[in-house]
Amino acid sequence: MRKIVILTGAGMSAESGIATFRGSGGMWNNYPVEQVATPEGFAANPGLVLQFYNERRAELLGAEPNEGHRLVADLEKNNDVVVVTQNVDDLHERAGSTNVIHLHGELMKGCSSFAPNDPRMVRTLTAQHPVIALGDKADDGSQLRPFIVWFGEAVPRMDDAIAALRDIDIFVIIGTSLNVYPAAGLLNFVPADVPVYLIDPNDVQVRGVRQVTTIRKGASEGMRDLLKLIG
Ligand code: APR
Repeated sequence: MRKIVILTGAGMSAESGIATFRGSGGMWNNYPVEQVATPEGFAANPGLVLQFYNERRAELLGAEPNEGHRLVADLEKNNDVVVVTQNVDDLHERAGSTNVIHLHGELMKGCSSFAPNDPRMVRTLTAQHPVIALGDKADDGSQLRPFIVWFGEAVPRMDDAIAALRDIDIFVIIGTSLNVYPAAGLLNFVPADVPVYLIDPNDVQVRGVRQVTTIRKGASEGMRDLLKLIG
């Protein structure tokens, strides 16, 4: 069976109404990254950070997967697909993708602030209980925090993402500006003979010299075009 790895970013969820980070209207134009997406910011003002992610979680609960997510999920019918996403939303899973690696964490989960990557402390949040409040504790007694990889923190699932590239036939990039490492560096681990497709309505600078087939469209329309190209 053909093996496909798909690296997605915020643009994958743009058509679901979720803001991207950079470019016009980007999240980082409205929120100071260092205050809401770093461990230092959380230490300095945990209430502000919890509120930021509670708001994003509420927004996510009102959002639906778009056609792009569904077409990615449908690829699993005839291919061995791994989605490596920088997104913390669960829209790939809600669209039906069954093999999703979240490099930057998951918005619908909370974790220990003593040991963020201790799986025993990770707690799944629900539509009924989507809020993390000051005073909510992880099982180790620490303040519960969003299960998000903040700037400056390790990206533990990068190893799994690199391992997923073994023996792949096609690599697809959808909706990421390739600004943030190590996620953007995943492309460097794709074997030289593997075709790479990039779906994005804007121009994305791809470092390195390899041949990339660009589909200058949004995620949904771009996935339809990709399916025509790869069958
Ligand atoms: N379909 C596909 N791509 C789109 C669409 C769309 N409808 N709309 C915008 N895009 C593209 C933009 O052109 C841009 O290239 O999505 C990309 C979004 O880039 P960023 O906002 O930089 O998001 P991303 O690359 O996912 O950021 C990576 O940065 O802040 C951190 O942790 C955060 O995971 C995030 C990481």
